[in-house]
Amino acid sequence: MAFHEMRDQPASNDATQRAPWWQTGVIYQIYPRSFQDSNGDGVGDLRGIAQRLPHLIELGVDALWLSPIFTSPMADFGYDIFDYTDIDPLFGTLADFDALIETAHRLGLKVILDLVPNHTSDQHPWFKESRASRQSPKRNWYIWRDPSPGGGPPNNWLSDFGGSAWAYDRQTGQYYYHAFLAAQPDLNWRSPEVRAAIYDAMRFWLRRGVDGFRVDVIWHVVKDDQFRDNPANPNFQAGNPAHHAVVPLYTADRPEVHDVIAEMRRVVDEFSSRVLIGEIYLPVERLVAYYGRDLGGVHLPFNFSLLGTRWHARTIAKLIDEYEAALPAGGWPNWVLGNHDRPRVASRVGAEQARVAAMLLLTLRGTPTIYYGDEIGMQQVAVPPDRIRDPIENTLPGLGRDGCRTPMQWDGTANAGFSPAEPWLPLSSTFREINLAGERDDDTSLYQLVRRLIRLRRSSPALLSGSYQPLLASGDLLLYARAWRRDRLLIALNLGSEPTAVTFPSHTLAGRLLVSSFGDRDDEPVLGTIHLRGDEGAVIDLSDQTILP
Ligand code: GLC
Repeated sequence: MAFHEMRDQPASNDATQRAPWWQTGVIYQIYPRSFQDSNGDGVGDLRGIAQRLPHLIELGVDALWLSPIFTSPMADFGYDIFDYTDIDPLFGTLADFDALIETAHRLGLKVILDLVPNHTSDQHPWFKESRASRQSPKRNWYIWRDPSPGGGPPNNWLSDFGGSAWAYDRQTGQYYYHAFLAAQPDLNWRSPEVRAAIYDAMRFWLRRGVDGFRVDVIWHVVKDDQFRDNPANPNFQAGNPAHHAVVPLYTADRPEVHDVIAEMRRVVDEFSSRVLIGEIYLPVERLVAYYGRDLGGVHLPFNFSLLGTRWHARTIAKLIDEYEAALPAGGWPNWVLGNHDRPRVASRVGAEQARVAAMLLLTLRGTPTIYYGDEIGMQQVAVPPDRIRDPIENTLPGLGRDGCRTPMQWDGTANAGFSPAEPWLPLSSTFREINLAGERDDDTSLYQLVRRLIRLRRSSPALLSGSYQPLLASGDLLLYARAWRRDRLLIALNLGSEPTAVTFPSHTLAGRLLVSSFGDRDDEPVLGTIHLRGDEGAVIDLSDQTILP
């Protein structure tokens, strides 16, 4: 059977029929270096990804987002771009990209690229031209300032990757600004030429068929035009990352950023059915501003609140409530459990709770994003000092991101089926126990749970477009309902390791258990009381009862 024939049809109802794909779909993030190596150099590539698309189809996701694949010196593994409109030879060629997108589309998968507009590589021809002289026509494409009157950096702005955000250029006697590595100079988004150049790069990929962009550090793009010092952070404590010593008041989340994003959105809207997603780490009340005036900003400002939360029922219930309450009218929610910058969820919450976390992600209201490997419970890998690759481990010891970027654990053979060669980052020592091949054969595995939950989402109007109703957060128990007309589901999550139960008057709770996170209670009747084992989550169908609790 062809893969596309294996896909379940999404639930059909008037709401989901009208909804764009990025609202009803599940997004899957691929870190290309670590997904599949096809040419034996120990680094993943585009042909490798194309070979592994059947996995995405079997899992049931709708879209893949690729971290950067563009030409790059790889100082920050592709987040330092040398050419916005070409593929790095490490990953393949433009022809490989065209082939990948063609196959993905044939299989019904959307393809989202990473757009990195805030900064380029210091090797980018634009920067080389800009730094050549103060009179360079591209001088203004980057952010150049004279030293402060007493000498030294122009102000107190700090790099997220450690130290001053200003690097001195001896030849022209000025400093340039870099929010991240010195090898990643920030573009000057106040320049109309810079904007036009990046919009052209966007059109290049949109014309090639990409279905949208995840925009890197979008809230950083505009900086204060008066270059005011950032205020000291009164909550700074010893041991915090050094750049938290100041509040980034003048370096990020500037009001003018919304005009830039509205322009980017108009570029995306020149093409039909594309999506714009923003990487934004901000408190919820600031985050939701990125939907833009009249929803003309990003379609999905990434909601990272689950990445850093305490794994506690009341805390999570509160963050869901606050997020739901803050959303603008018509703003579509989204949830993220893991990415290439944060420790793996299975290590943050523990292997047992990873199942509960998956159930949470896939039953909340809004678009879920799954980080590759989280569907099989890959854990954070302790990378030995001599194998460390992430440059920030040097400046921010302990915050290096290699541990969540290790090769996908496909099977128990040499190098976990990722590559015939030694991989660029070490494999998890647990890959023989935790791998896709083993979990495919085990009906009770995390992988099979994730598949079932995705399938359930696709067939459930309540999960795809229904309301979210908080019911209870007490002790380790988190309970909520999702409802679309007569399709009603109750989700009960035990966030602790002890068994728990909750009782409702029996006439208010009568249903049928659809999915237990352990995969073993299908169709069990539920009457009055929900019993959960330690670390268990359950989705209960309440469609046949007339009274919701
Ligand atoms: C984003 C990326 C991260 C990168 C940084 C600088 O936060 O997700 O990986 O290092 O931007 O480009």
